[in-house]
Amino acid sequence: MKRLLITALSAAMLLGLSACADKGAESAVQMDEQELNSKQPPVVTEEELGLRKENLYTEDTKPVRAVYTKAAPGTATRFKRSYVNAPPLIPHSVDGLLPITKGNNACLGCHMPEVAKSVGATPIPPTHFMDFRTQKKLDHLAQQRYNCSQCHVPQANVQPLVKNNFQPDFWRPEQMEKSNLIDTLNEGVR
Ligand code: HEC
Ligand code: HEC
Repeated sequence: MKRLLITALSAAMLLGLSACADKGAESAVQMDEQELNSKQPPVVTEEELGLRKENLYTEDTKPVRAVYTKAAPGTATRFKRSYVNAPPLIPHSVDGLLPITKGNNACLGCHMPEVAKSVGATPIPPTHFMDFRTQKKLDHLAQQRYNCSQCHVPQANVQPLVKNNFQPDFWRPEQMEKSNLIDTLNEGVR
């Protein structure tokens, strides 16, 4: 009986306490609202929320029809590198080459170093034949590099939704068309 009474008492105390806490929170919310109103924050409309400038509830946009380059491998013009040691963009058509699957990677047929020269393709660089965990050279392509299109992408004629003002800084002219990451891996680290 005595224990019951104590339990009831402590429950009542707890309830009282939480009521107090609620009041505190309420006035904090009121203060926040007052402060916000006095500063008159800019209103973001539904249309301004997304990159496509559409009302999100009535949005009626058609998907952008991206037209990828049609130039077959061997007839395309290489892009300038996006920045020093960036993964080069794919300049040729990838029709029939994607998706890369476990059993079929058509990219290797032209880009493996032993064949690349004879077809005029850029050879897969030494960084892709290396285990970065152990820093050891491999006698085969690193598995992490198998899925080429994870890093190398073809280009289409679409306008960027947001203007890109990035300007790469090439401090040697050859960096615009070739990577040398294998030689500079630890640049600035040691
Ligand atoms: C039939 C041979 C062939 C196949 C298959 C092929 N490529 Fe190429 N690739 C080339 C050639 C040749 C070039 C040089 C540009 C040209 O002449 O079209 C090139 C250029 C590139 C470049 C630009 C290299 C640079 O130095 O700027 C990248 C990246 C590339 N290919 C990635 C790929 C990927 C990824 C695949 C698979 C989806 C692939 N290629 C399949 C022949 C091929
Ligand atoms: C994890 C990302 C990644 C994957 C996957 C990948 N690459 Fe690369 N690739 C890069 C980066 C970053 C560079 C530039 C720096 C360097 O040389 O490592 C590069 C450079 C290259 C170059 C230019 C070499 C030069 O001498 O300038 C070729 C060609 C290339 N990759 C082909 C391929 C092919 C073909 C595959 C698939 C078998 C592939 N890559 C997979 C990131 C990747």
